[in-house]
Amino acid sequence: MAAHYDTIAQQYKKSKEFPFRLHIEAYTYFNLLGDLTGKSLLDLACKEGFYTRQFKQKGAARVVGVEISEKMIELATQQEAREPQDIEYILGDVLELGKIGSFDLVVASYLLNYCQTKEQLLKVCQNIFANLKPGGRFITINNHSEQPPASYLSTEKYGFIKNIDEPLQEGTPIKYTVYADEEKFSFDNYYLSTATHEWAFRSVGFKEVRWQKLIVSPEGVEEFGEDFWQDFVESMPIVAIECL
Ligand SMILES: C[S@@+](CC[C@H](N)C(=O)[O-])C[C@H]1O[C@@H](n2cnc3c(N)ncnc32)[C@H](O)[C@@H]1O
Repeated sequence: MAAHYDTIAQQYKKSKEFPFRLHIEAYTYFNLLGDLTGKSLLDLACKEGFYTRQFKQKGAARVVGVEISEKMIELATQQEAREPQDIEYILGDVLELGKIGSFDLVVASYLLNYCQTKEQLLKVCQNIFANLKPGGRFITINNHSEQPPASYLSTEKYGFIKNIDEPLQEGTPIKYTVYADEEKFSFDNYYLSTATHEWAFRSVGFKEVRWQKLIVSPEGVEEFGEDFWQDFVESMPIVAIECL
């Protein structure tokens, strides 16, 4: 997993510039996060710190990023050395993390979709819950497991498609192909049902789980028009989840 991200790092960075990243992904994410002023925040699977730095810029008092890829942590740390923001980066596997602190918010964009079994998902959720203060929130952006495979190709105009080689069942690999410039690259996520996610969240102690609809930023509507976003919002390839 880590080695794979080391090789596609540059292309992945480019894909962060896709309009849906800013106008749907980030807009929905920050909308859910709300005011970060003075908050403590743990960013799991932080990669090279793309969102991690933004959390600090938006006023979070303490930000810690955890990432399994050595190369990504190195990039994050170099950036921190160039422009210090007082962010702490930790090289580590969320599966083995345990309790490293007590945070108002634990966030993770595109982490849960790497769990291949319900046991792994449970372990990751235990480590998320362990790091939250009482009353804290977990917010995540994730592959949307329940997107009907019939619409997997409808997102090509946004820069990516998904494919499966076998019918969806627990653990089925979902192959993302991302078109960055003239090149494309692929990586796998894994299907675990909404019911399995609900089970894992509630088993570790979350009292409320909210599956949030995606929202398009007003700037995104203005720049691209409402019709442009329709396929994305309808097929819902990604989802936002809030656990209390
Ligand atoms: C698709 S990237 C998302 C990165 C970042 N959250 C973002 O949205 O820009 C997924 C990241 O999860 C990391 N990752 C996957 N499994 C992990 C684990 N068990 N523990 C920590 N990081 C993990 C990968 O190395 C990769 O950097």
